[in-house]
Amino acid sequence: MMRKKAKTGGKDRARPDYYAKKAKKEHFPARSVYKLSEIQEKYKVIKPGDTVLDLGCAPGSWLKYAAKIAGKGGKVIGVDIKPADVDPSANMFIFREDINDMSPEAWQVIDQGVDAVLSDMAPSTTGRKDVDAARSEQLCEMALYVADRALRPGGSFVCKIFQGPGFKAFSDSVKARFKTMKIFKPSGCRKESREIYIIGTGKKQEE
Ligand SMILES: C[S@@+](CC[C@H](N)C(=O)[O-])C[C@H]1O[C@@H](n2cnc3c(N)ncnc32)[C@H](O)[C@@H]1O
Repeated sequence: MMRKKAKTGGKDRARPDYYAKKAKKEHFPARSVYKLSEIQEKYKVIKPGDTVLDLGCAPGSWLKYAAKIAGKGGKVIGVDIKPADVDPSANMFIFREDINDMSPEAWQVIDQGVDAVLSDMAPSTTGRKDVDAARSEQLCEMALYVADRALRPGGSFVCKIFQGPGFKAFSDSVKARFKTMKIFKPSGCRKESREIYIIGTGKKQEE
């Protein structure tokens, strides 16, 4: 017998509930953790002992996940304009700041060098695809600027972008700086969302 589709939606509607429930059960503050875990399983962007910079870290599920992988010998630095909702630990530094206007204190920590730059930053959306994509691209440019400045050779870069007119140019910029560049949409992303992740591994040595 064929099962009728629920009136309120099919598989895609049910999916966010699945990830949200799983996050709650596993004590992560957001369902987005499963996007990073999928990226990590596929591309191994974080290694034990790494210093990880998490841009747009609130409410903190990537922070918590990255801290676990980096382990006691590693360190996680988070930056967000909103507060993170995670228990602080000895290897976690959180700056409540705007990426576009970071304090000398935050730069001082970041400039010591990092092994992975993760950006899940998302602008406040307007519903206008062109405006939202342009805002997302600006945040991505800032994440890449930080990677240029503080990411060590061999390091990894993960950056969420809303696909728009600047997508190709941005992915080309990542391609030029890393040994490999991949474009990946984790299954945790909503199908209707224009968000996608650009992943650079093996940052090239500066010439
Ligand atoms: C999708 S959420 C990140 C979720 C996070 N990865 C997690 O797992 O908990 C996007 C975040 O980007 C942050 N953000 C947006 N613009 C920013 C900016 N200019 N500087 C710093 N953070 C920003 C937002 O405040 C928001 O918390």
